[in-house]
Amino acid sequence: MDRIRIVGGAQLNGVIPISGAKNAALPLMIASMLTDETLQLHNVPRLADVAQLLRILSNHGLDHGVAGKRPGQSAVTGQSIRLRARDIIDTTAPYDLVSKMRAGFWVIAPLLARMGEARVSLPGGCAIGTRPVDLLLMALERLGAEIEIDGGYAHARAPKGLKGNDIVFPKVTVGGTHTALMAAVLADGTTVIENAAREPEVVDLANCLIAMGARITGAGTSQIVIDGVSRLNGAEYSVLPDRIETGTYAMAVAMTGGDVLLEGARPDLLQDALDTLQRAGVEITPTNEGIRIKRNGHGIEAVDVTTEPFPGFPTDLQAQFMALMTKARGTSMIRETIFENRFMHVQELARLGAHIRLDGDLAYVEGVPRLTGAPVMATDLRASVSLVIAALAADGETTVNRVYHLDRGFEGLEHKLSQCGAQIGRISGH
Ligand code: UD1
Repeated sequence: MDRIRIVGGAQLNGVIPISGAKNAALPLMIASMLTDETLQLHNVPRLADVAQLLRILSNHGLDHGVAGKRPGQSAVTGQSIRLRARDIIDTTAPYDLVSKMRAGFWVIAPLLARMGEARVSLPGGCAIGTRPVDLLLMALERLGAEIEIDGGYAHARAPKGLKGNDIVFPKVTVGGTHTALMAAVLADGTTVIENAAREPEVVDLANCLIAMGARITGAGTSQIVIDGVSRLNGAEYSVLPDRIETGTYAMAVAMTGGDVLLEGARPDLLQDALDTLQRAGVEITPTNEGIRIKRNGHGIEAVDVTTEPFPGFPTDLQAQFMALMTKARGTSMIRETIFENRFMHVQELARLGAHIRLDGDLAYVEGVPRLTGAPVMATDLRASVSLVIAALAADGETTVNRVYHLDRGFEGLEHKLSQCGAQIGRISGH
């Protein structure tokens, strides 16, 4: 298995291009199954999760073509993918495909909406708590689906088609909102989703569905209204920039010091995280090209953070922020409210010399003057990259094991960081 080797201490200076958002690209790709015409997506990141989802969708009969690189495009230019599900040939999403990524479960919505039937293995994904799908299934039931759980599969049926209805989520769920949206666009009548997720990726999905002919209003607010249509058409759509990648590199620069332009990044997608970094002493300047992140001379101040649904501080940046706080002046209190068990990076950060105490959903991070390199192990996607951030500012060498997690979510990580002066490289393993 590959490892990443980092020698800490170098400042980051230069330009980091921000890729298309993984968490937007995945639902957009799944939405392509709602039509028999072609959906062309641009700015799709080159990631293991994208490749895995293409395998899942192909199993249902989707054809896809990836446009080759053109002259002048850099190693990290996003890809353009044409997706066409002219015929759905199989409505089962099997365990060996879906268990590798949680978002794979969302195929249940377009399969059910278009074919009136879906049999989808209950999902896998990052090991960050139980992550049930009860709310996704509740949404489908509200639209008239009959659902049975049997042998590790959710079997959903709506032989007479789905019917619009009110769906009230008792808690904010991104996957639940995506699922409800994709099922409701082809349902008969009007659906109102209450307490909908307001994440930018939900807005991206809604905008793409609108481009495909869906009738949706209110995406980005907590009430989304969908008027069902009888069919959707093809479209061309570009994936929005990745706010989690943006925040991750912003925290890396805050950690090492330096001056980096995050090219193509949009501040409105992560204002809360940027405000938090500013309070910690980082200079942040939105420009026409992206967001410029700068920290020179002075150290980082401890700041408290609570993870929340959008527009609050994202859970997907919690581990990275904790890495930053390990070297801050003072003690920071970090509360995780979205996922239980999302502190698995704590033990590994401790191996680098961090002082962190856990108390339920709270982590107290007492800043230390220095971290020291060590072999560490990545446990999930965002946890792995938090170890990379800590390692960039640790004395000596760190090796991060099990980097397949990083390949699931960060396009060209070593390339992007080494272009800005980091000493980072991949050691191929078996
Ligand atoms: C998505 C993101 C993930 C991010 C998360 C929260 C993708 C591919 N993944 O995950 O990176 O961390 O949003 O911003 O976009 N829940 C239930 N029952 C359900 C569904 C969810 O109890 O049926 C709970 C979850 O356990 C969690 C909370 O709701 O505690 C939020 O989860 P959700 O927003 O659904 O996360 P995902 O869509 O899985």
